[in-house]
Amino acid sequence: MHRLLIDTDPGIDDALALFLAVASPEVQIEGITTVSGNVPITMTTRNALALLELAGKTDLTVASGSNRPLLRQPVFAGHVHGGNGLGGLQLPEPQQEPLHNQAVTTIIQKILQAPGEITLIALGPLTNLALAVRCEPQIAQMVREVVIMGGALRVPGNVTPNAEFNIYADPHAAQIVMHAGWPIRLVSLDVTNQTRMDRTQFATLAASNHPVTNCIQSMATAYINDFGKQRGISGLAMHDPLCLAAAIQPDLISWKKAYVDIELNGLHTQGHTIAYFEQPESLDTTLIDAKQPNVLASMDVDQERFLAMYMQ
Ligand code: BDR
Ligand code: CA
Repeated sequence: MHRLLIDTDPGIDDALALFLAVASPEVQIEGITTVSGNVPITMTTRNALALLELAGKTDLTVASGSNRPLLRQPVFAGHVHGGNGLGGLQLPEPQQEPLHNQAVTTIIQKILQAPGEITLIALGPLTNLALAVRCEPQIAQMVREVVIMGGALRVPGNVTPNAEFNIYADPHAAQIVMHAGWPIRLVSLDVTNQTRMDRTQFATLAASNHPVTNCIQSMATAYINDFGKQRGISGLAMHDPLCLAAAIQPDLISWKKAYVDIELNGLHTQGHTIAYFEQPESLDTTLIDAKQPNVLASMDVDQERFLAMYMQ
């Protein structure tokens, strides 16, 4: 059984990841914490509750977290996810209330209560994780693993030429998290951009005519018609669902140890994830070799297997 604590900023692909977690028999969701990211915190929290209620999960802890990044001004992604974060889809007002401002304490408590058991998944900016590990550094030794959707190591970024949204939205938090000394799997654009679902696949999924699959199709269609059309992209990038899947089945992806640092100061490069990989011995790698790996970086993905898993 995989015991997952999910920090998220729904977000269309966050929603698809939450549904994957709910539908996976081998997953026990320990709680959901929300963060400001794709849309402001009030909306990411409302969306998380509304999505879970749609999926029939009314018994989960949902705790809201940071309403802004540590230092930088907030940036949002309404142009990708729609102004409400769900591609304009209007879900019923949730009946449940969140635990207000308790994401950080929830992360700390859940990990301390079950040493070595909890996998912490980060699908949004890393603000809550950074605050949690600064408040209680022991969680770094007690978490099973931290699986993060973020970064662009060998490919262009999706916000600036070299920064990915979750890292760019709170680079200082990301730097704290990368260097906290916990075991990290970093699921970056290098693999998530290659992992897309198209209209036909969403239609096949929605043929089951379940409220969840109808919701998925509606959000995905909005994304493909609007953002996708502007960019000449015909499929939805499954960033957050692939990250969630990697926590359950790590061998969907091939991994390589790397030392990752976050560019904090660059005028044009803030939020860039700089990765030092082991180099062939023939090169002079004195500087690179001095860097101790702090993540397992995603190198390649078996898209077909992932998509088959998602459809199932
Ligand atoms: C990440 O940014 C967000 O817009 C998505 O939800 C995903 O977590 C991809 O760069
Ligand atoms: Ca997200």
